[in-house]
Amino acid sequence: MLKDPSRKYSPFPPVALADRQWPNRSLRVPPIWMSTDLRDGNQALFEPMNADRKMRMFRTLCDIGFKEIEVAFPSASQTDFDFVRQLIEGRHVPQDVTIEVLTQAREHLIRRTMESLRGARRAIVHVYNATSKPFRDIVFGMSRAEVVAMAVSAVHLIKQLAREHPDTEWILEYSPETFSSTELDFALEICDAVTAAWGATPDDKVILNLPATVESATPNIYADQVEWMHRHLARRDSVILSVHPHNDRGTAVAAAELALMAGADRVEGCLFGNGERTGNVDIVTLALNLYTQGVAPGLDFSDINAIARTVEHCNQLPIHPRHPYVGDLVFTAFSGSHQDAIKKGFAVQRPNAPWNVPYLPIDPADVGRSYDSVIRVNSQSGKGGIAYLLEAEYGVVLPRRLQVEFSGEVQRHTDAHGGEMSAAQIWQLFSQHYLVPEIPLRYVEHHLFEHGRGQGIRLRVASQGKVHLLAGEGNGPIDAAVHALRALDLDLQVRSYEERSMGKSREGGNAQACAFMEVTRPGSGVECFGVGLDTNIVTASIKALVSGVNRLEARHGQAV
Ligand code: KIV
Ligand code: ZN
Repeated sequence: MLKDPSRKYSPFPPVALADRQWPNRSLRVPPIWMSTDLRDGNQALFEPMNADRKMRMFRTLCDIGFKEIEVAFPSASQTDFDFVRQLIEGRHVPQDVTIEVLTQAREHLIRRTMESLRGARRAIVHVYNATSKPFRDIVFGMSRAEVVAMAVSAVHLIKQLAREHPDTEWILEYSPETFSSTELDFALEICDAVTAAWGATPDDKVILNLPATVESATPNIYADQVEWMHRHLARRDSVILSVHPHNDRGTAVAAAELALMAGADRVEGCLFGNGERTGNVDIVTLALNLYTQGVAPGLDFSDINAIARTVEHCNQLPIHPRHPYVGDLVFTAFSGSHQDAIKKGFAVQRPNAPWNVPYLPIDPADVGRSYDSVIRVNSQSGKGGIAYLLEAEYGVVLPRRLQVEFSGEVQRHTDAHGGEMSAAQIWQLFSQHYLVPEIPLRYVEHHLFEHGRGQGIRLRVASQGKVHLLAGEGNGPIDAAVHALRALDLDLQVRSYEERSMGKSREGGNAQACAFMEVTRPGSGVECFGVGLDTNIVTASIKALVSGVNRLEARHGQAV
């Protein structure tokens, strides 16, 4: 039993913003994206990335289309410092990409950070200090004025050091760390002071980043905080307003989306939500959420699996199989009703029409995922998924009632053996039940001949080690074969018959015909499907009749 929380935790206070505008807005353009995989993400790893992994991640981020990449915390580690040098000296930074580095607002750390950037074409220097009351009171023992002075003097130093290197285009980013737990009037005061100290103008904007360093309220509260700042900043036209949600409550994506509706221009986050504790906001989910609303995100996730494998390698952390858009299972339906709906959706989805397949918020092909994994079969599955796999992998379109009949066999199999069944295993089971059995009968050969106005057949079948030559006649080959089997005491009725082409066989041979025949013994109350495969359609149908006899036998144990 959880303890009574009311004694220990208090609800987050609401923001006084009665005329909030963000609930009526929607997202129609992508934000400026900033990847902090190499900084915030890297800081959160068991084993931070080495130079090779950092370079691999950097190249991947550039390929995806990030134009701003926080590459390091140079004053915190030699690896990070060296990596910045490697990027600059090795000219690894594409023309349209700006590298960013983080520093605390302390003189010696700022100096070291600026040194790491020597020779950069363009750079964002990201300086931060924590602003919330617990940090002021408990961690630093500083007054509000002292915290503001700390930020402002850091900005003055960065400005001075930047002037000494005019060949670099310098951009300042300031983060009031723990913004979302800071009194809004104080966050505003310090942000305005930084903007003024930098001398930001509409042509030379400062980036003000508002982190939910620890997510501690519902996303609407964060949106209110961001909208409040957006509306109160003294020089809003000289500011790029950035957000940096963490995911402690599991709502970082929602918080970022609402914050953008509330006036933010820019989002900082990591691929697949890596980052401190529960992670930074997941930029992949944010971008693909936009994409599925018809907004081009400006980031390329068209081969999401390749990106995922690279990120797993660089971070040495696996991606959860249910992670939105990328997890191994997110395009997989096990449940029968889902499979049925998806199968129907695929059947009517036209290639260039708006996407409208039930249960799939995105076309898996758009992110380079195949349809193979969409429908998988286990004990929860129904006929739709089984039929889908046989059709997709083997070109066999089962009649509806046969789908029902065979799904019972699959169910018995998965109940007995557990686990999932691949398309190949399903086909094997199908063959075992419908194509392979030769008891009581095995088809050997047949010859058709004209018989008056009807059809005659000479049918050779094997039973219990003996080959029987049977003769029959009827109004067609199937009728004639049914008649011929009476000689073996097999009284059969054909309830339905369908034939389909399977296209080329898997082995690349001639096109196969597939015949499905539903048969019964009068008065038995049992109906079964038989299935026959052959390049000749009449042979396929007679094999289907023999298969039907064998299925009836299997169901009832009636020996010939
Ligand atoms: O989460 C945070 O507050 C940070 C800052 C350093 C921007 O990562
Ligand atoms: Zn962070």
